[in-house]
Amino acid sequence: MSIELKQVSCSYNFRTKQEILALNGISMKIEDGEFVGIMGHTGSGKSTLVQLIAGLIRPNSGQVFLDGKDINERGYDRNNLHRQVGIVFQNPEYQLFETTVAKDVAFGLKHSGLRKEEACERVRQALEQMGFSYDDIADASPFALSGGEKRRVAIAGVLAARPKTLIFDEPIAGLDPEGRRQFLELVRKLNREGVSILMVSHHADSICACAERVLVLEQGSLVLDGSPKAVFADLERTSRLHIGASQPRQIAELLIQSGIPFSRDIVRYEDLLDELKNRWKGGTRCE
Ligand SMILES: Nc1ncnc2c1ncn2[C@@H]1O[C@H](COP(=O)(O)OP(=O)(O)O)[C@@H](O)[C@H]1O
Ligand SMILES: [Mg+2]
Repeated sequence: MSIELKQVSCSYNFRTKQEILALNGISMKIEDGEFVGIMGHTGSGKSTLVQLIAGLIRPNSGQVFLDGKDINERGYDRNNLHRQVGIVFQNPEYQLFETTVAKDVAFGLKHSGLRKEEACERVRQALEQMGFSYDDIADASPFALSGGEKRRVAIAGVLAARPKTLIFDEPIAGLDPEGRRQFLELVRKLNREGVSILMVSHHADSICACAERVLVLEQGSLVLDGSPKAVFADLERTSRLHIGASQPRQIAELLIQSGIPFSRDIVRYEDLLDELKNRWKGGTRCE
């Protein structure tokens, strides 16, 4: 589904002395099937932006369109919106509450009108997508699981609704490297299957590896919108915007600083390898 924001501004405590302008005149369009990374300093407005897109909060001015329809207009089918746009908050594992894993994953389907068998099938599939064996996990208590497993169960609960767009707000914060790798592999797979992904993260390596487009917020404004290469090439700027630099970009910089001519246009490990292959052919260095 396409997502479009037109001049969206959003304040907390609107028209009070404590008013905080969280987003200031954001306009952008995301096409169906994209994988978009959302970055920016803490407090820059990332969570506010994704909650607006998911229809959980309303803008004070401007419009949010999903597939060309203004989601805040009277009569818009908000149930349909919540089915089509899934959002996974930071630490979703804190929201588990049912007595069994299967019940927790099925919770969001309660008012979907699906037949029982169809709902069960979706729960099974969502758990399997998250790497579980349904038969092993279905009757377990969510509270008996490890932190990483709980998070996967919580994500399965969102997947069960089969959303067309999936939003993750800092999904890899607190995961160990293996948990992170598994998670990123899963979201890439979902994206290849046609689900649009919006992922908020502070982890430049993960964003560079997965996203084809990166949006950067600064104090409620959209200040950069481009490919990972375009966004991460300038280290001074990435530092100023608090979005860090991917490891391959840092390695390239280290080489340049030590007097080795190297491209700055490197954000992924594949770019690093390509550059090395170009420069070192058959064991001899090519100028
Ligand atoms: N519920 C809230 N009430 C008041 N202010 C809020 C609330 N949520 C966020 N803010 C403020 O809005 C701004 C943007 O916050 P947020 O969207 O959470 O940024 P980020 O996700 O990039 O850290 C910050 O100044 C934050 O303090
Ligand atoms: Mg946030």
